[in-house]
Amino acid sequence: MLPDRVGRAITASAGPIVFLTGAGISAESGIPTFRGPEGFWRVGSRNYQPTEMATAVAFARMPAEVWRWYLFRRGVCRSAAPNAAHRALVRFEKRAGDRFLLVTQNVDGLHLRAGNSAARTYQIHGNADFCRCMRGCLPVVRELPVKLSESWEKERSLDDAELATLRCACGEWLRPHVLWFDESYDEPVYRYVSAQRAAETAAALIVVGTSGATSLPTRMCETVAARGAPLIVVDPEPTVFSAVAEASARGVYLRGTATEIVPELTEALGALALGRGV
Ligand code: APR
Repeated sequence: MLPDRVGRAITASAGPIVFLTGAGISAESGIPTFRGPEGFWRVGSRNYQPTEMATAVAFARMPAEVWRWYLFRRGVCRSAAPNAAHRALVRFEKRAGDRFLLVTQNVDGLHLRAGNSAARTYQIHGNADFCRCMRGCLPVVRELPVKLSESWEKERSLDDAELATLRCACGEWLRPHVLWFDESYDEPVYRYVSAQRAAETAAALIVVGTSGATSLPTRMCETVAARGAPLIVVDPEPTVFSAVAEASARGVYLRGTATEIVPELTEALGALALGRGV
């Protein structure tokens, strides 16, 4: 499934095999993507455009409304199960150990629920199962209060008791542990430097199910292509990343869905990078 020029480069390198995933890897688990026809950024809420909701400015103005929307999205994620592509990445990590790295834009938590390790999974846009104090109290990242139901009707508002659980002991609001549109990547919370460093040393970067609308993934792909390292893009539709791969010396675009391609691809990568029987 991989051309010789790509396979040879992977075999010759001792760098990490880095996967970069977007909403497309969870589409076959039943979670809408962001920019597809039923996408989260298109459907939104009763009164607000979704891209307005996912901002620090919106949270400062209407925390209860923003929380309601995130709890609905989290409910969609909690009712979904990992699919064959998520499971293939777990098998690959077991086999590759420290040579495996996963950078995900998804806040659905499905990679961790499937069994990938937190240490090798960089959740560069956060995780909707977690929250943080607006004032930055420790621990920085915390699980959502257990009293909040995991399933959430789209338009259901939080009652006073639920809102009270979303306060830190210091009195400040807890906020969703997600990167908002009017915020920047950083290393301590979102692993910005680590993800970029991974692209600088990767034996291969495998991009699955992302349209290419965000800056860190774009930089990672450009870095890998500029190094002439293997860049493998999996997506049923051409994207800016598939175009970069096709224009790059050791790039390849594998057109298809995540569950169609990723299980076979990880087997092929395992044989190339790790040798048979490892
Ligand atoms: N398998 C693989 N890819 C798929 C599948 C599938 N079954 N179904 C759809 N896709 C592809 C689409 O063709 C598209 O290229 O997944 C991609 C989804 O793109 P987006 O909806 O833009 O999602 P994503 O790229 O993850 O968005 C990135 O934008 O606003 C931010 O924080 C948000 O993390 C998100 C980021």
